[in-house]
Amino acid sequence: MKYFLTGSFITIIILIALFSYRQNIFSTTLPYDDEQQGLNEQITIHFSHVVAENTPKGIAAEKFKALVEEKSDGKVVVQIYPNGMLYNDENELEALRENKIQMIAPTISKMTKTLPNWQVLDLPFIIEDNKQLKKVLQGETSKSLLQELDSINVKGLTFWNNGFKQIASTSPIIEVEQFKGKRVRMMTSDILHEQFMLLDAKPIATTFGDLYSGLKQNLVDAQENTISNIYSKQFHTMENHITLSNHGILAYSVIMNETFWNSLDVEIQNIITDSLDQMQNWQFERAEQFNVENLSYLKGNSNVKIYDLDDLTKKKWEEKLLPIYSHYEKNINDHYLDDLLNEIKQID
Ligand code: LMR
Repeated sequence: MKYFLTGSFITIIILIALFSYRQNIFSTTLPYDDEQQGLNEQITIHFSHVVAENTPKGIAAEKFKALVEEKSDGKVVVQIYPNGMLYNDENELEALRENKIQMIAPTISKMTKTLPNWQVLDLPFIIEDNKQLKKVLQGETSKSLLQELDSINVKGLTFWNNGFKQIASTSPIIEVEQFKGKRVRMMTSDILHEQFMLLDAKPIATTFGDLYSGLKQNLVDAQENTISNIYSKQFHTMENHITLSNHGILAYSVIMNETFWNSLDVEIQNIITDSLDQMQNWQFERAEQFNVENLSYLKGNSNVKIYDLDDLTKKKWEEKLLPIYSHYEKNINDHYLDDLLNEIKQID
């Protein structure tokens, strides 16, 4: 009996310890350094994202953390959770709105379900080069798009960049006809779905985190992504044919829970916006650099085949995708497309 009671007692203690540990991991109050002074005044920003640390978004999150913590003299702490370890692309916006986390940086595409006007930035072949991309993400159309976040009680801070999307596949996709019947993973987005339907492919929406296993299980033949995302997740080990199509952009909206934002002193709000302003050009340059360096590594890997689109082939892709513009106008019926085209025209 004595042994039974002691055993039960120990089991209960272990169960309570395990339960508390899990609660701690999944609750919003994450561990902090309790030797610090003035803990009551410390502000923690839990920043969740889905990609690796060595990517344009991963290093931007780290830089943001360093700047904010330094400028606030440790009053603000930024806790970063990369690789979808807390939330994935499908549930991070909801978690943000519920203030379970305070900051995320989802791709524009992933916001289009909630804010359909954002699809304008996902139209294929609309932005031609890095110069245009940088100007557009810092331009007036992007500012108006960010303001739309007010309607869903989210604070839009800025856009970060990852560069142009390429096609990575298990067999070559160079000619536009080679998309036919291919199961192409895409981010959940109406306009991306339309894009792959126009290419006669079979679009499959998955989270970024599920893509690797999808490829391993042979459920997917191809995807569109930036070189840095392909390289950092080692997708090229399975999708070893990469076509440098530069057909679309991949950019991030950097956003915060609005109630949390409003609860911050103006001084802290300024530290956050100043930090983001200060690192903006750096972020764009690092994104370009990542894609160049990672591409050069892939070019040096004899198992990976890289293809360029010649002018004629690119024209055929553009022609095949042209109807997507009327699809956009029919469904969105908004001024954003004209605004964006005008803005791009003015970039010299
Ligand atoms: C993807 O899902 O392919 C990317 O959006 C991941 C990311 O956040 O860069």
